[in-house]
Amino acid sequence: DAEKADYRERIKTLLKQKDAVLVAHYYTDPEIQALAEETGGCVADSLEMARFGNEHPAKTLIVAGVRFMGETAKILTPEKRVLMPTLEATCSLDLGCPADTFGEFCDKHPDHTVVVYANTSAAVKARADWVVTSSIALEIVEHLDSEDKKIIWGPDRHLGGFIAKQTGAEMLMWQGHCVVHDEFKYRALVDMKKQYPDAAVLVHPESPDFIVEMADAVGSTSQLIKASQELPNERFIVATDRGIFYKMQQLSPEKTFMEAPTGGDGATCRSCAHCPWMAMNGLQAIERCLNTDDLEQHEVFVDEALAEKAMIPLNRMLDFAA
Ligand code: 13P
Ligand code: SF4
Repeated sequence: DAEKADYRERIKTLLKQKDAVLVAHYYTDPEIQALAEETGGCVADSLEMARFGNEHPAKTLIVAGVRFMGETAKILTPEKRVLMPTLEATCSLDLGCPADTFGEFCDKHPDHTVVVYANTSAAVKARADWVVTSSIALEIVEHLDSEDKKIIWGPDRHLGGFIAKQTGAEMLMWQGHCVVHDEFKYRALVDMKKQYPDAAVLVHPESPDFIVEMADAVGSTSQLIKASQELPNERFIVATDRGIFYKMQQLSPEKTFMEAPTGGDGATCRSCAHCPWMAMNGLQAIERCLNTDDLEQHEVFVDEALAEKAMIPLNRMLDFAA
């Protein structure tokens, strides 16, 4: 509508004026992803977002995603201004893994290598030997396991369980979970699969193991998008945030994508698989963060001592992925 078009135009002008670039996650709303693409920014998974922000020359990064993505950008490029539509966009994995109790857990097992998921605070990353995202977690744990390292894994227990099963690595697990992926329902998915036997099932590994077991492809957001292009099926049942449908449909307009059920009675719940924090990244909030001097709600700062420590395991991941 006219109001949205107006916001889009203002944002485009402001991005140029402020030497800023928009970096958006695949779970943000389609209009945000489209705007990032149109303005020379990027739409990506959390690993690519970190990489893009690190390499792009713009002085200001507008990170449309959740808090840990903004913090990662700031840690990797402290000389840049990092703004977010709202600093209140957090993540249940981050909330469920306080640095002090996680630190005590690590202290009890000093002979273990600490591997943390990117969906954590800077303080938790500062305590880690490795940071991983879901696109690279499997390879990094395989590598550590090949060196006979014992691993502490945090915070997502489902992703951790999936990796432990795939690699056979010995992993002590923090018991965090993602409130979005935890909602997928097994019986309803079995029923949906009966209704659409030709459909391939795509699952993000933050989902419970009984959902992962039904998958034709398991992976990070970018890996699931790739699978949606490469698998020959014409129909897909997708167990992850519905924001991902924008890119899947754009790349394969002829295919049909359906949300995996989050309700108990089949595919009736059409709106549950959407992260409430990703949903905070609206056009209005983006315009505001570019157009205000009151940056208290927008600018990401990370304590310098923590950032210096957190940068080590983050760079270790980026070097490994390179
Ligand atoms: P990806 O790294 O796969 O984009 O996942 C990020 C995330 O928050 C998934 O819920
Ligand atoms: Fe965190 Fe889950 Fe939202 Fe991803 S979808 S940001 S893991 S709460």
